[in-house]
Amino acid sequence: MTKLLKWLAWPFVVLMALARWAGGTFLISALALFPVALVAELMFRKHHPWKVHLLTAAGASLVIGAFVGAAAWLGLKFPDLSIPGLAPGVRKGATRGESLTAQGVAALRAAHQLVDDLPRILDDPISVQLVGPDFVSRIAADSERLRDPQVSALRCHVLLRSRYSEDRLAVAVQAGTHQCVIIGAGLDTFAYRQPPWARAMRIFEVDHKASQETKRDMLAKAGVEIPANLTFVELDIEKRSLRETLVHAGVDPTRPAFFSCLGVLVYLTRDAVRDLFRAVAGFPAGSELVLTYAGSVNTDDDPTWLANRARTLGEPWLSGFSAEELVGELREAGFHAIEFLSREAAARYVGNRTDGLEPPRRVRIASARV
Ligand SMILES: C[S@@+](CC[C@H](N)C(=O)[O-])C[C@H]1O[C@@H](n2cnc3c(N)ncnc32)[C@H](O)[C@@H]1O
Repeated sequence: MTKLLKWLAWPFVVLMALARWAGGTFLISALALFPVALVAELMFRKHHPWKVHLLTAAGASLVIGAFVGAAAWLGLKFPDLSIPGLAPGVRKGATRGESLTAQGVAALRAAHQLVDDLPRILDDPISVQLVGPDFVSRIAADSERLRDPQVSALRCHVLLRSRYSEDRLAVAVQAGTHQCVIIGAGLDTFAYRQPPWARAMRIFEVDHKASQETKRDMLAKAGVEIPANLTFVELDIEKRSLRETLVHAGVDPTRPAFFSCLGVLVYLTRDAVRDLFRAVAGFPAGSELVLTYAGSVNTDDDPTWLANRARTLGEPWLSGFSAEELVGELREAGFHAIEFLSREAAARYVGNRTDGLEPPRRVRIASARV
């Protein structure tokens, strides 16, 4: 036994070094294999002490895990269990705690530029640069998977929310708003492809430190410049005051501001959502918040598959609302005009197409004005 372990040690160390570059593949494989190896040990080598069983099972799973990791690094194909089009980086895992759901939705925006019909619901060439050539070739090789009805519905929602929010922002700017705060910005690309009407405005992207660091790395790798009117604001919304942090970062609380909060409320606790609403509603009249929300658990179209997927990525859904509950919370916080993007209005954005994109049965996108 000791001899065998010694014999395997060197190739193992080399393979481990290689597997390091295959991200989480090595560790995940090793962890998954350990119980299998232990059961096999207990079944077929009954008369050994526990220590030997444990050591052999650990050794075997590490060695096989290293082989799997090394093979992944060498580009060999394994069954891909991820939701098609969602989070291209998932197999490598989050390296510093960055949001993988943010990568997933960015991938869907990028896919839209590559595989869907014209005219686009959202013109976002930067998203393609951000996700990088690996993802682009994956899409090209496997575009059929994006036609899955669930993935199409999610893609359409993600496109609609950005498009609607950017259209509302254009109206707000015309009315004199000069500050835009993107809450939970993830890999939102508005700032990097901003139209001329946005240039006189200050843009603030709020997100976790880890997500922002990853975004900056991706921008640098893609050769995308950070515009002069953009400020990154590091914040865990659950932990610190949004208003104070924004003011500290340079947002003027005496002037109207436009806020977007797309695909974020669902990841916050009810208390944090209420605080966020109050913080935004505390801005002067003319301020606006465009948001998306998930239905309450009782609604018949609760997209459980998506909630499950988010949980496996380490980002569980924490809050959902019926439309009535949402209106109640917004009014309570101090918003006056609340408007939901109707299915008809969403259908106008989508237009007539043959790519299978159609507005979701329930469009959970809304705007609330102070
Ligand atoms: C699904 S992504 C959406 C990203 C972006 N809004 C978009 O539409 O592409 C959710 C984002 O919310 C951010 N987020 C979630 N919880 C947060 C918190 N407590 N504080 C700050 N950001 C948070 C995540 O880091 C992630 O970037």
